[in-house]
Amino acid sequence: MTSSETMAGGVRPRPVVDRLPRYAAGKPPVVVDGLASYKLSSNENPLPPIPAVAEAIAAQTDFNRYPDPLSTKLRTALAGFLDVPAEDIVTGAGSLGALNQILAAFAGQNDDGKADEVIYAWRSFEAYPICVGLAGAESVRIPLTPDGRHNLEAMAAAVTMRTKVILLCTPNNPTGPILTAEETERFIKTVPSDVVVVIDEAYQEFVRAEDAVDGIRMYRKYPNVVALRTFSKAHGLAGLRVGYSISQPELTQHLRVAATPFAVSQIAEQAAVVSLQNFDQVVERVQSLVDERDRVTAGLRGLGWFVPEAQGNFVWLNLGEDSAEFAQLAGERALSVRAFGNEGVRVSIGEVEANTRFLDLCAVYTKPPRGS
Ligand SMILES: Cc1ncc(COP(=O)(O)O)c(C=O)c1O
Repeated sequence: MTSSETMAGGVRPRPVVDRLPRYAAGKPPVVVDGLASYKLSSNENPLPPIPAVAEAIAAQTDFNRYPDPLSTKLRTALAGFLDVPAEDIVTGAGSLGALNQILAAFAGQNDDGKADEVIYAWRSFEAYPICVGLAGAESVRIPLTPDGRHNLEAMAAAVTMRTKVILLCTPNNPTGPILTAEETERFIKTVPSDVVVVIDEAYQEFVRAEDAVDGIRMYRKYPNVVALRTFSKAHGLAGLRVGYSISQPELTQHLRVAATPFAVSQIAEQAAVVSLQNFDQVVERVQSLVDERDRVTAGLRGLGWFVPEAQGNFVWLNLGEDSAEFAQLAGERALSVRAFGNEGVRVSIGEVEANTRFLDLCAVYTKPPRGS
């Protein structure tokens, strides 16, 4: 054995790394002869970025230079777009990058050697346990209600002296329901003001529920609230990795310290700026997906299927132990969907033909999910 093999074999990650679940990315579409394949497994936007974005980034050539570490152009554009001070915005490599910055700044191992606690609903975005664990903090997962909603009372009751951060996901991935403005504000008021409340609004542009919470309104009122948003979903820029957080200066100053330098490339920044400048086109595309979501939801309910309120670009099928079987059947129809263990299947809204094929499968599937 060479010395380098000995050394490689001897390395040991932090204990938490062995304990963490592996992030299982959505599977690529299955190839079936004679059928177009569709990927409905990652809540991506099936539409390409708007043409002005593609043109703007194709014209860029200055890749020998590092990007602006503060993403000044993008933060200035967002400040105008959202009517917030640019100083309150911190960009990241996707909203996941922005979330890691929040956790790095606020939750980890405390000076007494014990882990801080981060509370979130479960099931929710499957990256949460990984991000929290890697930060050195401990996950406190509060089960969703049977209709896929956050149980805010139970989440409030779970707060301890060790709680540093609470993650609220609205609409919740993978189940779909929003948090209302009223229940969220009531919750924030019960949480100690030194606990950071993150409102993850990755799917905010798809929300049509009038009583939904608006993270920006909460951030304006509460200094411990951070709103988290992304260009990955509505803007169709998932592959470029750009997202951001918005919080008041008292909180934001700490995020800047924890921010990964140069996390947003100049291509991603330019794409995001141009997409914002053409937001009317983004809105049109989002509306076409919302229409499809509503068609799919109505179709499923028409078949007698239980579907929780779907306010993102996906629907949740509470299929329990039949989840893997359903995903397999979808695969045979060249649709890749996302099964989560024995809990359920999440199906992203895709191209019209893909959605129709999914509904066709449901029409012949004999074990529909029921409300529990
Ligand atoms: C709830 C939620 N938050 C954050 C993200 C991360 O998105 P991104 O890092 O691409 O901005 C996702 C992606 O699926 C998500 O579902």
